[in-house]
Amino acid sequence: MARRPLGDAETRRANRGWWDRDADSYQAEHGAFLGDVDFVWCPEGLREADAGLLGPVAGRRILELGCGSASAGRWLATQGAHVVALDLSAGMLRHAVEASARSGVPVPLLQADALALPFADEAFDIVCTAFGAIPFVVDSAAAMREVHRVLRPGGRWVFSATHPMRWIFLDDPGQEGLLAVHSYFDRNPYVESTEDGVPTYVEQHRTLGDRVRELVGAGFVLRDLIEPEWPEGHTQEWGQWSPLRGHLFPGTAIFVSTKPTTDTPNT
Ligand SMILES: C[S@@+](CC[C@H](N)C(=O)[O-])C[C@H]1O[C@@H](n2cnc3c(N)ncnc32)[C@H](O)[C@@H]1O
Repeated sequence: MARRPLGDAETRRANRGWWDRDADSYQAEHGAFLGDVDFVWCPEGLREADAGLLGPVAGRRILELGCGSASAGRWLATQGAHVVALDLSAGMLRHAVEASARSGVPVPLLQADALALPFADEAFDIVCTAFGAIPFVVDSAAAMREVHRVLRPGGRWVFSATHPMRWIFLDDPGQEGLLAVHSYFDRNPYVESTEDGVPTYVEQHRTLGDRVRELVGAGFVLRDLIEPEWPEGHTQEWGQWSPLRGHLFPGTAIFVSTKPTTDTPNT
């Protein structure tokens, strides 16, 4: 593993392959935590049912990006939303198909790239994702512009991602993960490769300022930035997310933004 520059084509290939190959183990490890019909924003366990970050959803047209098994999309459907759930990986979408059958809550599923959304302009009232797509694309500013395009004026874009400050630490839920070893300002992605140097997993880093600039540059107004605290009594680890680290510093950032209506320009 290394932090090094990597182009768009190699990154896309690595990520699609990774999520296809990893889909079964991702679901085996996290499926119970995520549920079949539930909207969990992050390993801290914040639920949309409690947080209400999307505002009213009944009757709204909602796109779930990077949906994985689409538990969030299914939960939104039970709240009366008209949902499309989209992911790059057929492996992840296979789990979405299975979970839809298991739960009896089907949602339309689509295999596509967040950078080229196959929808008309202003097709949705809300776009959302829990850790999907955004941390994995080279040009996340372009992804924000694409989300902006498919949202109607006044629409809402909410996404969660690893909190940027986690970048300075090793990916370790224990004591080792408390020591700052990497530069917060190093935007080179985290890359895992085969022994022959073929990239197999790529994750991007943006600082908080980068994220704000991406959102504002795409035309959004940033309404809130949620840094969920680790709840008392929550003992379940998720990769590098643990009670030890969660009690000391944030692990997740959730950006809540809106596309201005024409009479409230983003000035
Ligand atoms: C960490 S998983 C999150 C899945 C789900 N939202 C959840 O909460 O479990 C990241 C997801 O983003 C998807 N993804 C990665 N790059 C993408 C892209 N360019 N376009 C759409 N989805 C992408 C992956 O296939 C994967 O399902």
